[in-house]
Amino acid sequence: MASRGKWSSQLGFILAAAGSAIGIGNIWRFPYMTGKYGGAVFLFVYLAAVVLLGLPVLIAEIAIGRATGKNPVGAFAELRPKSQWKLVGYMGVLAGMMILSYYSLISGWTLGYFFKTLAGSLKGATTSATPLIFDTFVRNFWLQAFLLAAFIFITGYIVSKGIAGGIEKACKVLMPVLVVIMLILLGRALTLPGAGKGLEFYLRPDFSKLSPRMIIDAMGQAFFSLSLGMGAMITYGSYLKKDESIPAGAAWVAALDTVTAVMAGFIIFPALAAFGMNPAGGHPLVFHILPVIFDQMPLGSIFGMLFFLLLGVAALASTVSLLEVVVAYCIDELKWSRGRSVLAAGSLSFLIGIPSVLSFGGVKFFQKLPLLNISFFEMMDFVWSTLALSVGALFICIFAGYVWKSAAALKEIGRGAEKFRHGWLWTISVKYLCPALILLTLFTLAIR
Ligand code: PFF
Repeated sequence: MASRGKWSSQLGFILAAAGSAIGIGNIWRFPYMTGKYGGAVFLFVYLAAVVLLGLPVLIAEIAIGRATGKNPVGAFAELRPKSQWKLVGYMGVLAGMMILSYYSLISGWTLGYFFKTLAGSLKGATTSATPLIFDTFVRNFWLQAFLLAAFIFITGYIVSKGIAGGIEKACKVLMPVLVVIMLILLGRALTLPGAGKGLEFYLRPDFSKLSPRMIIDAMGQAFFSLSLGMGAMITYGSYLKKDESIPAGAAWVAALDTVTAVMAGFIIFPALAAFGMNPAGGHPLVFHILPVIFDQMPLGSIFGMLFFLLLGVAALASTVSLLEVVVAYCIDELKWSRGRSVLAAGSLSFLIGIPSVLSFGGVKFFQKLPLLNISFFEMMDFVWSTLALSVGALFICIFAGYVWKSAAALKEIGRGAEKFRHGWLWTISVKYLCPALILLTLFTLAIR
């Protein structure tokens, strides 16, 4: 069998899995969704979804991965031979490839903004200038296609180096630095005059804003942010050693991921309020406001450069996990070499990403799809990041609870975690609570 590896330690696993979880989902997607759905109420539904749905599914995925030591397709096939369950694995591999295509595009924006800051072209950026700068930037097809290709290329290079070598090393050093820079940004945002209004928007919920669409997006965001529902954590769990604790690892990953997202909100909303910008500004939100914050800080361009660079690195740790799902499948099931798998999956993702590039300018069709009235990019994001991951998570719960069976799953979960006393809670979650909540949310969306 081709080159599989193992994480060198529990910390290595936690940092790599947190690296997969923490990405532009936390710093770009979470704030714009929260802004779009009216602030605090989205934050609260999201936090509930992380605890009630995210954590149990995360534990289930890691356990499936470690029990089998396989990619999602191989894992389902091993635990339930000759059944259709491996289709869930196939869907995960497909989702990995699809998400990689547009996720890399947004990640490319962080590179673009790094170079913009380096070149000084964001100096003196005002709230009226940043939207224009952003628009001009995303409409430049060749630049966007180049950034997309560059991001997928760098991802492919790291994945081709194998597990502990590339991914683990990069995450160990760079993720903590990102958090430090975010703390500095947090200090600046919270001390801006007028920041209090933003805090109110972020923390005081208006429950009249609850809607089925909001709830499904919050649930999808919880799965997306924790990299769940498509087997990324099955794949990462497959490299975890047997004597290490799954529940402790999962709790750390969920906590680090959630703290980062919540922290991003504490930076973005006070700053938006201070500068009188609209929090419901949609997906460009953080690219509109961040340059303005940096401009208001001493050494702002240095912090700006570092921030966009490290956000790029955080995104890279996530794209690496997306590609790794597809590559692990090609290595294990198709018996391809790592290099060949990376080349094939990377190229295909790049091609699938092109219509998303065109969603931001140039071709009308992709900017507003007929009937749906949303762009191709928005359609992909909803279908794959929200729907596919929620459906994937639903199947993973049913599989762990009823097919593999919770007793067998708990045996795996208990290995290396002798002090874990909450197996019963996990069982109730994956067998009843999670399937019921996910089904109810999907059903409500369908009948509307
Ligand atoms: N969790 C990543 C983020 O929040 O940016 C996105 C992601 C990575 C989703 C890997 C799914 C995945 F398998």
